[in-house]
Amino acid sequence: MSTTFQLDTSTSRANPTPAPMKRLTVPKIRLRKQDGVTAEPLVMLTAYTARQAQLLDAHCDMLLVGDSLAQVIYGLPSTIPVTLEMMANHGAAVVRGSYHSVVIIDMPFGSYEASKEQAFESASYLLKQTGAAAVKLEGGEAMAETVEFLNKRGIPVMGHVGLTPQAVNVLGGYMARGRSDNEADKIVADAKALDDAGAFAVVVEGVVEPIAIEVTKAISCPTIGIGASAQCDGQVLVTEDMLGMFDRVPRFVKKYEDIAGMIENTVKTYADEVRERSFPGPDQTYQPKK
Ligand code: KIV
Repeated sequence: MSTTFQLDTSTSRANPTPAPMKRLTVPKIRLRKQDGVTAEPLVMLTAYTARQAQLLDAHCDMLLVGDSLAQVIYGLPSTIPVTLEMMANHGAAVVRGSYHSVVIIDMPFGSYEASKEQAFESASYLLKQTGAAAVKLEGGEAMAETVEFLNKRGIPVMGHVGLTPQAVNVLGGYMARGRSDNEADKIVADAKALDDAGAFAVVVEGVVEPIAIEVTKAISCPTIGIGASAQCDGQVLVTEDMLGMFDRVPRFVKKYEDIAGMIENTVKTYADEVRERSFPGPDQTYQPKK
């Protein structure tokens, strides 16, 4: 039995404050698109830690524990080296830090492609270890049978088509997809196959806008765009990218803040105060009781 659901609330400053909100469910997310229309677009962001989840939770419909944690948290060059254990540890933290959003965990490269049975082993491990509601996997037609297998056995799946970063060695880079007719047709066919297989939503990443719109019209479940189109049924970004943690971000990222600049200024102030011995001051030191 996993103990990862438990948080020592007496000692942790990451103790989540239960909000008076009921957690959304996968069926509710799926039903936000009805007869091809999503009246209120779905909001998704990545989260990797409990504190980050606490801050994002109330504003999002879904939190994605993305395998982008490879680059964002671990400084790895791609998502290829990510392990199930990494996803389970961060997934459990995000579930502990959230009360409202549906938490979805990325299946890492090598944990699901070999067979549908391997995918079930890996996905069930992730759900047991974390308490998350669903998994996400990359690939279209080639993964449709696996998506159906998981879905029929109690594991909701979010698909991911277009620019699929785990396939970087096949694609040859992270450039936008769907510029040729062949590529465009394949993206639409991939999304349709996932939809038919029972995916509850499909991420459409790094795809030229007309194809993202075509996919959104062609499938019954919601599309979640990233580098795609505002016409998708929802949007996702890597949280650190949109907060401005990194200098280099993909072209499709809008930087809403300059968090890196704020951290650098704050740390400089701290370092100056330590060096001039003005920190800690009277408010931060203990004196003997008189
Ligand atoms: O890993 C990730 O963060 C993702 C999103 C960018 C969709 O897959």
